[in-house]
Amino acid sequence: MLAIAILAAGKGTRMHSDIPKVLQKIAGTTLLEMVINSCRGLRPDRSLVIVGHQSKQIKESISYRKDIEFVTQEPQNGTGHAVQQLIPILKDFDGDLLVLNGDVPLLSSSTILELLSSHRSRKADVSILTARLPAPDGYGRVFSDNEGNVDRIIEDRDCTEEEKKNDLTNAGVYCFKWKRLKDVLQKLSSNNAQNEVYLTDSIQNLCTAIQIEVSDSTEVNGVNDKQQLSKCEDLLQERLRTYWMKQGVKFISPNTSTISNKTRFGKDVTIEPATHLRGENIIGDNCHLGPSSLIENTELKANVSILYSVVKDSIIHENVQIGPFSHLRPGTKLKNDCKIGNFVEIKKSNLDESTKVNHLSYIGDCEIGKAVNIGAGTITANFDGSNKHQTIIGKNSKTGANSVLVAPLNVGDRVTIGAGSTITQDIPNDSLAIERSNQVTKKKWSSED
Ligand code: UD1
Ligand code: CA
Repeated sequence: MLAIAILAAGKGTRMHSDIPKVLQKIAGTTLLEMVINSCRGLRPDRSLVIVGHQSKQIKESISYRKDIEFVTQEPQNGTGHAVQQLIPILKDFDGDLLVLNGDVPLLSSSTILELLSSHRSRKADVSILTARLPAPDGYGRVFSDNEGNVDRIIEDRDCTEEEKKNDLTNAGVYCFKWKRLKDVLQKLSSNNAQNEVYLTDSIQNLCTAIQIEVSDSTEVNGVNDKQQLSKCEDLLQERLRTYWMKQGVKFISPNTSTISNKTRFGKDVTIEPATHLRGENIIGDNCHLGPSSLIENTELKANVSILYSVVKDSIIHENVQIGPFSHLRPGTKLKNDCKIGNFVEIKKSNLDESTKVNHLSYIGDCEIGKAVNIGAGTITANFDGSNKHQTIIGKNSKTGANSVLVAPLNVGDRVTIGAGSTITQDIPNDSLAIERSNQVTKKKWSSED
Protein backbone atom coordinates (compact mmCIF):
# COMPACT_ATOMS: atom_id res chain seq x y z
CA MET A 1 0.00 0.00 0.00
CA LEU A 2 1.22 3.48 -0.82
CA ALA A 3 -0.10 6.92 0.11
CA ILE A 4 1.42 10.14 -1.15
CA ALA A 5 1.18 13.41 0.75
CA ILE A 6 2.33 16.69 -0.73
CA LEU A 7 2.84 19.58 1.68
CA ALA A 8 1.35 22.73 0.20
CA ALA A 9 -0.12 24.61 3.16
CA GLY A 10 2.76 26.94 4.01
CA LYS A 11 2.59 30.73 3.73
CA GLY A 12 5.63 31.08 1.49
CA THR A 13 6.50 34.35 3.23
CA ARG A 14 9.94 34.58 1.58
CA MET A 15 8.31 34.72 -1.86
CA HIS A 16 6.76 38.18 -1.11
CA SER A 17 3.85 37.43 -3.42
CA ASP A 18 0.05 37.43 -3.50
CA ILE A 19 0.25 34.13 -5.36
CA PRO A 20 0.67 31.10 -3.09
CA LYS A 21 4.20 29.69 -3.34
CA VAL A 22 3.21 26.31 -4.73
CA LEU A 23 1.24 28.08 -7.51
CA GLN A 24 4.28 30.00 -8.72
CA LYS A 25 5.19 28.67 -12.15
CA ILE A 26 8.30 27.46 -13.92
CA ALA A 27 8.14 26.84 -17.67
CA GLY A 28 4.40 27.54 -17.37
CA THR A 29 3.66 24.81 -14.81
CA THR A 30 2.97 25.38 -11.12
CA LEU A 31 5.44 24.03 -8.59
CA LEU A 32 2.65 21.87 -7.19
CA GLU A 33 1.87 20.33 -10.59
CA MET A 34 5.58 19.71 -11.11
CA VAL A 35 5.72 17.78 -7.82
CA ILE A 36 2.52 15.88 -8.67
CA ASN A 37 3.96 14.99 -12.08
CA SER A 38 7.18 13.73 -10.54
CA CYS A 39 5.06 11.07 -8.76
CA ARG A 40 3.68 9.65 -12.00
CA GLY A 41 4.16 5.94 -12.32
CA LEU A 42 3.87 5.29 -8.58
CA ARG A 43 0.24 4.15 -8.64
CA PRO A 44 -0.58 5.23 -5.07
CA ASP A 45 -3.67 4.05 -3.22
CA ARG A 46 -4.23 7.54 -1.81
CA SER A 47 -3.00 10.91 -3.10
CA LEU A 48 -3.25 13.69 -0.54
CA VAL A 49 -2.39 17.35 -0.79
CA ILE A 50 -2.18 19.30 2.47
CA VAL A 51 -3.50 22.82 2.06
CA GLY A 52 -4.02 25.81 4.35
CA HIS A 53 -2.82 29.23 3.23
CA GLN A 54 -4.89 30.31 0.18
CA SER A 55 -6.29 26.81 0.01
CA LYS A 56 -9.16 27.74 -2.32
CA GLN A 57 -6.84 28.80 -5.13
CA ILE A 58 -4.63 25.77 -4.66
CA LYS A 59 -7.58 23.37 -4.78
CA GLU A 60 -8.93 25.05 -7.91
CA SER A 61 -5.58 24.82 -9.66
CA ILE A 62 -5.64 21.02 -9.58
CA SER A 63 -9.39 20.44 -9.52
CA TYR A 64 -9.03 18.39 -12.74
CA ARG A 65 -7.23 15.72 -10.69
CA LYS A 66 -10.21 13.87 -9.31
CA ASP A 67 -7.95 11.32 -7.61
CA ILE A 68 -6.48 13.92 -5.24
CA GLU A 69 -7.89 14.37 -1.73
CA PHE A 70 -7.31 17.64 0.10
CA VAL A 71 -6.47 17.79 3.78
CA THR A 72 -6.67 21.11 5.61
CA GLN A 73 -3.95 22.30 7.97
CA GLU A 74 -5.12 25.31 9.97
CA PRO A 75 -3.10 27.13 11.28
CA GLN A 76 0.16 26.27 9.55
CA ASN A 77 2.47 25.30 12.33
CA GLY A 78 5.27 23.55 10.47
CA THR A 79 5.90 20.52 8.29
CA GLY A 80 5.50 18.08 11.20
CA HIS A 81 2.18 19.70 12.10
CA ALA A 82 1.12 19.37 8.45
CA VAL A 83 1.72 15.62 8.51
CA GLN A 84 -0.02 15.33 11.90
CA GLN A 85 -3.22 16.27 10.04
CA LEU A 86 -3.05 12.89 8.31
CA ILE A 87 -3.53 10.93 11.54
CA PRO A 88 -7.36 10.84 11.33
CA ILE A 89 -7.32 10.57 7.53
CA LEU A 90 -4.99 7.56 7.42
CA LYS A 91 -6.49 5.95 10.53
CA ASP A 92 -6.58 2.41 9.20
CA PHE A 93 -3.84 2.77 6.62
CA ASP A 94 -1.03 0.25 6.84
CA GLY A 95 1.60 0.94 4.22
CA ASP A 96 4.21 3.43 3.12
CA LEU A 97 3.66 7.17 3.16
CA LEU A 98 5.67 9.19 0.66
CA VAL A 99 5.87 12.81 1.81
CA LEU A 100 7.04 15.50 -0.58
CA ASN A 101 7.45 19.21 0.02
CA GLY A 102 5.34 21.08 -2.52
CA ASP A 103 8.22 23.40 -3.39
CA VAL A 104 10.74 20.90 -4.82
CA PRO A 105 9.80 20.97 -8.52
CA LEU A 106 12.70 19.35 -10.34
CA LEU A 107 12.55 15.81 -8.97
CA SER A 108 12.51 13.07 -11.54
CA SER A 109 10.08 10.20 -11.21
CA SER A 110 12.96 7.72 -11.44
CA THR A 111 14.60 9.24 -8.34
CA ILE A 112 11.38 8.89 -6.37
CA LEU A 113 10.92 5.32 -7.58
CA GLU A 114 14.48 4.50 -6.48
CA LEU A 115 13.82 5.97 -3.04
CA LEU A 116 10.65 3.92 -2.69
CA SER A 117 12.16 0.65 -3.84
CA SER A 118 15.26 1.07 -1.66
CA HIS A 119 12.99 1.90 1.29
CA ARG A 120 11.04 -1.29 0.74
CA SER A 121 14.00 -3.57 0.13
CA ARG A 122 15.87 -2.27 3.18
CA LYS A 123 12.70 -2.41 5.29
CA ALA A 124 13.46 1.02 6.76
CA ASP A 125 11.17 3.00 9.04
CA VAL A 126 12.04 6.06 7.01
CA SER A 127 14.16 6.69 3.91
CA ILE A 128 15.04 10.23 3.02
CA LEU A 129 16.40 11.78 -0.12
CA THR A 130 19.61 13.79 0.31
CA ALA A 131 22.06 15.75 -1.79
CA ARG A 132 25.46 17.29 -1.31
CA LEU A 133 25.03 20.93 -2.22
CA PRO A 134 27.81 23.43 -2.82
CA ALA A 135 25.75 26.12 -1.06
CA PRO A 136 23.54 24.28 1.45
CA ASP A 137 22.31 27.43 3.25
CA GLY A 138 18.67 27.22 4.25
CA TYR A 139 18.44 23.44 3.98
CA GLY A 140 18.23 20.98 6.86
CA ARG A 141 21.56 19.16 7.39
CA VAL A 142 21.52 15.36 7.50
CA PHE A 143 23.83 13.60 9.93
CA SER A 144 24.53 10.12 8.71
CA ASP A 145 27.18 7.37 9.01
CA ASN A 146 29.00 5.95 5.98
CA GLU A 147 26.35 3.24 5.47
CA GLY A 148 23.67 5.86 5.07
CA ASN A 149 22.09 5.39 8.52
CA VAL A 150 20.72 8.74 9.61
CA ASP A 151 21.11 9.91 13.16
CA ARG A 152 19.18 13.17 12.83
CA ILE A 153 18.36 16.20 10.71
CA ILE A 154 19.10 19.66 12.07
CA GLU A 155 17.47 22.67 10.43
CA ASP A 156 19.79 25.37 9.11
CA ARG A 157 18.56 27.90 11.67
CA ASP A 158 19.15 25.48 14.53
CA CYS A 159 22.66 24.41 13.43
CA THR A 160 25.86 25.49 15.17
CA GLU A 161 28.57 26.96 12.91
CA GLU A 162 30.29 23.57 12.99
CA GLU A 163 27.10 21.69 12.04
CA LYS A 164 26.49 24.11 9.15
CA LYS A 165 29.72 22.84 7.53
CA ASN A 166 27.96 19.54 6.82
CA ASP A 167 26.89 19.79 3.17
CA LEU A 168 24.62 16.71 3.18
CA THR A 169 21.19 18.29 2.89
CA ASN A 170 17.60 17.14 3.29
CA ALA A 171 15.69 17.30 -0.01
CA GLY A 172 12.26 17.33 1.66
CA VAL A 173 11.23 13.94 0.22
CA TYR A 174 10.63 11.10 2.65
CA CYS A 175 9.29 7.58 2.59
CA PHE A 176 7.86 6.51 5.95
CA LYS A 177 6.34 3.35 7.33
CA TRP A 178 3.12 5.09 8.27
CA LYS A 179 2.44 3.06 11.42
CA ARG A 180 5.86 3.92 12.85
CA LEU A 181 5.62 7.58 11.90
CA LYS A 182 2.13 7.90 13.38
CA ASP A 183 3.42 6.98 16.86
CA VAL A 184 6.31 9.43 16.59
CA LEU A 185 4.28 12.33 15.14
CA GLN A 186 2.29 12.81 18.31
CA LYS A 187 5.48 13.36 20.31
CA LEU A 188 6.99 16.14 18.19
CA SER A 189 7.59 19.47 19.90
CA SER A 190 8.09 22.99 18.57
CA ASN A 191 11.13 23.72 20.67
CA ASN A 192 13.28 25.25 17.92
CA ALA A 193 14.33 28.53 16.31
CA GLN A 194 11.03 28.90 14.42
CA ASN A 195 8.69 27.52 17.12
CA GLU A 196 7.28 25.15 14.53
CA VAL A 197 6.64 21.41 14.57
CA TYR A 198 9.29 20.01 12.23
CA LEU A 199 8.73 16.79 10.31
CA THR A 200 12.51 16.42 10.29
CA ASP A 201 12.48 15.88 14.08
CA SER A 202 10.63 12.62 13.58
CA ILE A 203 13.74 11.04 12.06
CA GLN A 204 15.73 10.78 15.28
CA ASN A 205 12.83 8.95 16.92
CA LEU A 206 12.55 6.24 14.28
CA CYS A 207 14.68 3.08 14.51
CA THR A 208 15.91 2.58 10.98
CA ALA A 209 16.40 5.85 9.14
CA ILE A 210 18.26 5.67 5.86
CA GLN A 211 19.36 8.35 3.45
CA ILE A 212 19.71 7.97 -0.31
CA GLU A 213 21.86 10.55 -2.05
CA VAL A 214 20.61 11.72 -5.46
CA SER A 215 23.02 11.41 -8.36
CA ASP A 216 22.02 14.78 -9.82
CA SER A 217 21.87 17.32 -7.00
CA THR A 218 19.98 19.88 -9.14
CA GLU A 219 16.86 17.71 -8.70
CA VAL A 220 16.47 18.72 -5.08
CA ASN A 221 16.48 22.49 -5.50
CA GLY A 222 13.82 23.89 -3.20
CA VAL A 223 11.98 27.12 -3.95
CA ASN A 224 11.58 29.55 -1.07
CA ASP A 225 12.12 32.88 -2.84
CA LYS A 226 12.14 34.46 -6.29
CA GLN A 227 15.86 33.89 -6.73
CA GLN A 228 15.47 30.14 -6.21
CA LEU A 229 12.38 30.22 -8.46
CA SER A 230 14.43 31.77 -11.23
CA LYS A 231 17.24 29.26 -10.72
CA CYS A 232 14.76 26.39 -11.10
CA GLU A 233 13.31 28.07 -14.21
CA ASP A 234 16.80 28.18 -15.73
CA LEU A 235 17.50 24.55 -14.88
CA LEU A 236 14.15 23.43 -16.27
CA GLN A 237 14.60 25.47 -19.47
CA GLU A 238 17.95 23.83 -19.99
CA ARG A 239 16.44 20.39 -19.41
CA LEU A 240 13.58 21.06 -21.84
CA ARG A 241 15.89 22.36 -24.57
CA THR A 242 18.25 19.42 -24.12
CA TYR A 243 15.33 17.01 -24.34
CA TRP A 244 13.95 18.60 -27.51
CA MET A 245 17.34 18.94 -29.16
CA LYS A 246 17.72 15.18 -28.66
CA GLN A 247 14.34 14.79 -30.39
CA GLY A 248 15.60 16.73 -33.41
CA VAL A 249 14.72 20.38 -32.70
CA LYS A 250 17.43 22.82 -33.75
CA PHE A 251 18.02 25.81 -31.48
CA ILE A 252 20.17 28.68 -32.66
CA SER A 253 21.54 30.31 -29.53
CA PRO A 254 19.50 28.06 -27.19
CA ASN A 255 20.08 30.12 -24.04
CA THR A 256 18.15 33.05 -25.49
CA SER A 257 14.89 31.12 -26.05
CA THR A 258 12.40 29.67 -23.58
CA ILE A 259 9.80 26.96 -24.00
CA SER A 260 6.93 25.81 -21.85
CA ASN A 261 6.59 22.37 -20.42
CA LYS A 262 3.46 21.87 -22.53
CA THR A 263 4.98 22.54 -25.94
CA ARG A 264 5.42 19.61 -28.34
CA PHE A 265 7.57 19.73 -31.47
CA GLY A 266 7.67 17.74 -34.69
CA LYS A 267 10.82 16.98 -36.70
CA ASP A 268 13.28 19.52 -38.09
CA VAL A 269 11.89 22.52 -36.30
CA THR A 270 14.30 25.46 -36.09
CA ILE A 271 14.11 27.91 -33.23
CA GLU A 272 16.01 31.11 -33.85
CA PRO A 273 17.30 33.38 -31.07
CA ALA A 274 14.97 35.17 -28.60
CA THR A 275 11.93 33.06 -29.45
CA HIS A 276 9.55 32.09 -26.67
CA LEU A 277 6.83 29.43 -26.57
CA ARG A 278 4.34 29.74 -23.74
CA GLY A 279 1.27 27.78 -22.67
CA GLU A 280 0.27 24.72 -24.70
CA ASN A 281 1.64 24.55 -28.23
CA ILE A 282 1.87 21.89 -30.90
CA ILE A 283 4.54 22.73 -33.45
CA GLY A 284 4.52 20.74 -36.72
CA ASP A 285 7.44 19.43 -38.78
CA ASN A 286 9.80 21.89 -40.47
CA CYS A 287 8.47 24.99 -38.77
CA HIS A 288 10.89 27.89 -38.60
CA LEU A 289 10.28 30.10 -35.57
CA GLY A 290 11.94 33.45 -34.91
CA PRO A 291 14.14 35.24 -34.44
CA SER A 292 12.35 37.26 -31.76
CA SER A 293 8.88 35.76 -31.74
CA LEU A 294 6.34 34.90 -29.05
CA ILE A 295 4.02 31.95 -29.63
CA GLU A 296 1.38 31.05 -27.05
CA ASN A 297 -1.33 28.35 -26.91
CA THR A 298 -1.05 27.81 -30.62
CA GLU A 299 -1.06 24.91 -33.05
CA LEU A 300 1.18 25.15 -36.08
CA LYS A 301 0.95 22.51 -38.80
CA ALA A 302 3.97 21.71 -40.97
CA ASN A 303 6.24 24.29 -42.69
CA VAL A 304 5.01 27.40 -40.94
CA SER A 305 7.47 30.27 -40.62
CA ILE A 306 7.10 33.03 -38.04
CA LEU A 307 9.51 35.96 -38.09
CA TYR A 308 9.58 38.78 -35.48
CA SER A 309 5.93 38.19 -34.62
CA VAL A 310 3.45 37.48 -31.82
CA VAL A 311 0.94 34.64 -32.24
CA LYS A 312 -1.55 33.70 -29.51
CA ASP A 313 -4.41 31.18 -29.23
CA SER A 314 -4.35 30.51 -32.97
CA ILE A 315 -4.39 27.57 -35.36
CA ILE A 316 -2.12 27.90 -38.37
CA HIS A 317 -2.15 25.36 -41.18
CA GLU A 318 0.65 24.25 -43.53
CA ASN A 319 3.06 26.51 -45.42
CA VAL A 320 1.85 29.73 -43.84
CA GLN A 321 4.31 32.62 -43.63
CA ILE A 322 3.88 35.10 -40.80
CA GLY A 323 5.85 38.32 -40.32
CA PRO A 324 7.97 40.19 -39.99
CA PHE A 325 6.04 42.17 -37.34
CA SER A 326 2.62 40.51 -37.44
CA HIS A 327 0.30 40.21 -34.45
CA LEU A 328 -2.07 37.24 -34.51
CA ARG A 329 -4.50 37.50 -31.62
CA PRO A 330 -6.79 34.85 -30.10
CA GLY A 331 -9.14 33.04 -32.44
CA THR A 332 -7.08 33.42 -35.60
CA LYS A 333 -7.33 30.44 -37.95
CA LEU A 334 -5.27 30.42 -41.12
CA LYS A 335 -5.58 27.66 -43.70
CA ASN A 336 -2.73 26.40 -45.92
CA ASP A 337 -0.50 28.81 -47.84
CA CYS A 338 -1.77 32.05 -46.27
CA LYS A 339 0.67 34.92 -46.00
CA ILE A 340 0.51 37.56 -43.28
CA GLY A 341 2.96 40.42 -43.65
CA ASN A 342 4.34 43.38 -41.77
CA PHE A 343 2.26 45.46 -39.37
CA VAL A 344 -0.81 43.27 -39.78
CA GLU A 345 -3.06 42.51 -36.82
CA ILE A 346 -5.61 39.70 -37.04
CA LYS A 347 -8.18 38.82 -34.37
CA LYS A 348 -10.87 36.10 -34.21
CA SER A 349 -10.89 35.51 -37.96
CA ASN A 350 -10.83 32.56 -40.32
CA LEU A 351 -8.78 32.95 -43.49
CA ASP A 352 -9.12 30.24 -46.10
CA GLU A 353 -6.30 28.83 -48.28
CA SER A 354 -3.83 31.10 -50.08
CA THR A 355 -5.27 34.33 -48.73
CA LYS A 356 -2.81 37.18 -48.28
CA VAL A 357 -2.79 40.14 -45.91
CA ASN A 358 0.59 41.53 -46.68
CA HIS A 359 0.82 45.04 -45.29
CA LEU A 360 -0.52 47.38 -42.59
CA SER A 361 -3.98 45.91 -41.94
CA TYR A 362 -6.41 45.22 -39.13
CA ILE A 363 -8.60 42.17 -39.73
CA GLY A 364 -11.06 41.51 -36.88
CA ASP A 365 -14.10 39.19 -36.70
CA CYS A 366 -13.76 38.13 -40.35
CA GLU A 367 -14.59 35.12 -42.48
CA ILE A 368 -12.39 35.37 -45.55
CA GLY A 369 -12.55 32.89 -48.44
CA LYS A 370 -9.81 31.34 -50.56
CA ALA A 371 -7.18 33.31 -52.49
CA VAL A 372 -8.34 36.72 -51.31
CA ASN A 373 -5.89 39.59 -51.52
CA ILE A 374 -6.32 42.12 -48.76
CA GLY A 375 -4.67 45.30 -50.05
CA ALA A 376 -2.20 47.35 -48.06
CA GLY A 377 -3.83 49.34 -45.27
CA THR A 378 -7.22 47.60 -45.41
CA ILE A 379 -9.03 47.99 -42.11
CA THR A 380 -12.13 46.19 -40.92
CA ALA A 381 -14.13 48.60 -38.77
CA ASN A 382 -15.64 45.86 -36.61
CA PHE A 383 -16.61 47.91 -33.54
CA ASP A 384 -19.46 50.42 -33.48
CA GLY A 385 -18.67 51.68 -29.99
CA SER A 386 -20.71 49.05 -28.20
CA ASN A 387 -20.76 45.86 -30.27
CA LYS A 388 -18.43 43.87 -32.51
CA HIS A 389 -19.68 42.97 -36.01
CA GLN A 390 -18.57 40.48 -38.62
CA THR A 391 -17.11 41.01 -42.08
CA ILE A 392 -17.46 38.24 -44.67
CA ILE A 393 -15.37 38.30 -47.84
CA GLY A 394 -15.88 35.68 -50.57
CA LYS A 395 -13.20 33.82 -52.49
CA ASN A 396 -10.89 35.47 -55.05
CA SER A 397 -11.85 38.98 -53.98
CA LYS A 398 -9.43 41.90 -53.68
CA THR A 399 -9.59 44.94 -51.46
CA GLY A 400 -7.84 48.09 -52.67
CA ALA A 401 -5.21 49.86 -50.64
CA ASN A 402 -6.57 51.87 -47.71
CA SER A 403 -10.12 50.46 -47.87
CA VAL A 404 -12.25 50.58 -44.76
CA LEU A 405 -14.80 47.77 -44.49
CA VAL A 406 -17.49 48.85 -42.04
CA ALA A 407 -19.07 45.79 -40.40
CA PRO A 408 -21.52 44.12 -40.46
CA LEU A 409 -20.62 43.60 -44.09
CA ASN A 410 -20.96 40.88 -46.67
CA VAL A 411 -18.60 41.06 -49.65
CA GLY A 412 -19.22 38.45 -52.36
CA ASP A 413 -16.86 36.26 -54.40
CA ARG A 414 -14.55 37.76 -57.06
CA VAL A 415 -15.25 41.30 -55.87
CA THR A 416 -12.80 44.14 -56.41
CA ILE A 417 -12.87 47.11 -54.07
CA GLY A 418 -11.28 50.31 -55.31
CA ALA A 419 -8.45 51.85 -53.33
CA GLY A 420 -9.44 54.33 -50.65
CA SER A 421 -13.08 53.18 -50.42
CA THR A 422 -15.12 53.20 -47.25
CA ILE A 423 -17.52 50.30 -47.81
CA THR A 424 -20.75 50.32 -45.81
CA GLN A 425 -23.06 48.28 -48.05
CA ASP A 426 -22.92 44.61 -49.01
CA ILE A 427 -21.35 43.83 -52.39
CA PRO A 428 -22.69 40.98 -54.59
CA ASN A 429 -20.47 38.46 -56.41
CA ASP A 430 -18.48 39.56 -59.49
CA SER A 431 -18.72 43.31 -58.75
CA LEU A 432 -16.44 46.30 -58.57
CA ALA A 433 -17.18 48.67 -55.68
CA ILE A 434 -15.61 52.10 -55.40
CA GLU A 435 -16.57 54.70 -52.84
CA ARG A 436 -14.64 57.92 -53.30
CA SER A 437 -15.01 61.36 -54.81
CA ASN A 438 -13.88 61.89 -58.35
CA GLN A 439 -10.47 63.42 -58.58
CA VAL A 440 -10.38 67.07 -59.51
CA THR A 441 -7.30 68.15 -61.42
CA LYS A 442 -7.01 71.85 -62.21
CA LYS A 443 -4.53 72.26 -64.99
CA LYS A 444 -1.96 75.05 -65.04
CA TRP A 445 -2.80 75.93 -61.46
CA SER A 446 -0.35 77.39 -58.99
CA SER A 447 -0.72 78.44 -55.33
CA GLU A 448 1.17 81.67 -56.15
CA ASP A 449 -1.73 82.94 -58.37
C1 UD1 B 1 12.21 22.08 4.63
C2 UD1 B 1 12.87 21.11 5.59
C3 UD1 B 1 14.38 21.15 5.37
C4 UD1 B 1 14.69 20.79 3.94
C5 UD1 B 1 13.94 21.70 2.97
C6 UD1 B 1 14.09 21.17 1.56
C7 UD1 B 1 11.49 21.04 7.60
C8 UD1 B 1 11.34 21.48 9.00
N1 UD1 B 1 12.55 21.47 6.95
O1 UD1 B 1 12.65 23.39 4.97
O2 UD1 B 1 15.02 20.21 6.24
O3 UD1 B 1 16.09 20.88 3.71
O4 UD1 B 1 12.54 21.74 3.29
O5 UD1 B 1 13.55 22.03 0.59
O6 UD1 B 1 10.66 20.29 7.12
N2 UD1 B 1 4.35 23.48 4.71
C9 UD1 B 1 3.08 23.10 5.11
N3 UD1 B 1 2.65 23.49 6.36
C10 UD1 B 1 3.42 24.21 7.19
C11 UD1 B 1 4.72 24.58 6.78
C12 UD1 B 1 5.16 24.19 5.52
O7 UD1 B 1 2.35 22.46 4.37
O8 UD1 B 1 2.96 24.49 8.30
C13 UD1 B 1 4.79 23.10 3.35
C14 UD1 B 1 5.17 24.32 2.51
O9 UD1 B 1 4.04 24.78 1.78
C15 UD1 B 1 6.27 23.75 1.63
C16 UD1 B 1 6.86 22.61 2.43
O10 UD1 B 1 5.96 22.32 3.46
O11 UD1 B 1 5.75 23.24 0.41
C17 UD1 B 1 8.23 22.95 3.03
O12 UD1 B 1 8.10 24.10 3.87
P1 UD1 B 1 9.21 25.23 3.91
O13 UD1 B 1 8.79 26.24 4.89
O14 UD1 B 1 9.54 25.67 2.56
O15 UD1 B 1 10.43 24.40 4.52
P2 UD1 B 1 11.98 24.75 4.38
O16 UD1 B 1 12.32 25.84 5.31
O17 UD1 B 1 12.35 24.90 2.97
CA1 CA C 1 11.23 25.09 1.14
